[in-house]
Amino acid sequence: MSKLRFTIDGKPCTAEPGQTIAEAAKANAVYIPTLCHYEGLPPVGSCRVCTVRSGGRYMASCTQVVTDGMAIENMVPDLEDMRRAIIEMLFVEGNHMCPTCEKSGNCQLQALAYRYQILVPRFPFQFPGRHIEAVAPKILLEHNRCIQCLRCVRSVQTKDGRKVFAQRDRSKKRKIDVDAKLAAGLTDEEVRKAMDICPVGSILMKEIGFAVPIGERKFDREPIGSDIEKGPER
Ligand code: FES
Repeated sequence: MSKLRFTIDGKPCTAEPGQTIAEAAKANAVYIPTLCHYEGLPPVGSCRVCTVRSGGRYMASCTQVVTDGMAIENMVPDLEDMRRAIIEMLFVEGNHMCPTCEKSGNCQLQALAYRYQILVPRFPFQFPGRHIEAVAPKILLEHNRCIQCLRCVRSVQTKDGRKVFAQRDRSKKRKIDVDAKLAAGLTDEEVRKAMDICPVGSILMKEIGFAVPIGERKFDREPIGSDIEKGPER
């Protein structure tokens, strides 16, 4: 099947049939911020940070596939401000203390806040009363930082396909639960992977901290999105 042709902010792009806007944008060296999306996992379109507009319609670029002739708006002021507002809401809704967080420098929420130059959110801080769960032998679950992206629920499974994390309750009470027995069977490498899949510092591996010093971590070295904007290496 021939490639689809479309534009992002006027830039001519091509896509494979069935590719989502986020995937195709990345392949065309265009950065669209994402948060709940993780390459290789089925997208859920829950955070809406990746919202773009085409033909006056707003859509989550991680779930919407490209159609031929689309003219997509991405880095336009109102969409950028909407993304900034979502990131601000995520900050005020939880308790994020970046300077003391093990994930600082590797945290996508923090990296997006830097990209959007967020200093003081426009919304009041909620300071919710949340706890830290240490029931799993190797995992610390920090509910204060959880942004409910469900990446862990979608990805962390035992060898026989049972989910280690699940979602409990609804609305403001909604939280992520870990099955301590199943989590006990995870190897160190699997726990490390779960920690990496979490975009914030909500899933932490016990007994290991600050192995890579702050200042030398992924987003300390390179701002989020810059690898995509540089395009594939030749
Ligand atoms: Fe698309 Fe979250 S990254 S909705």
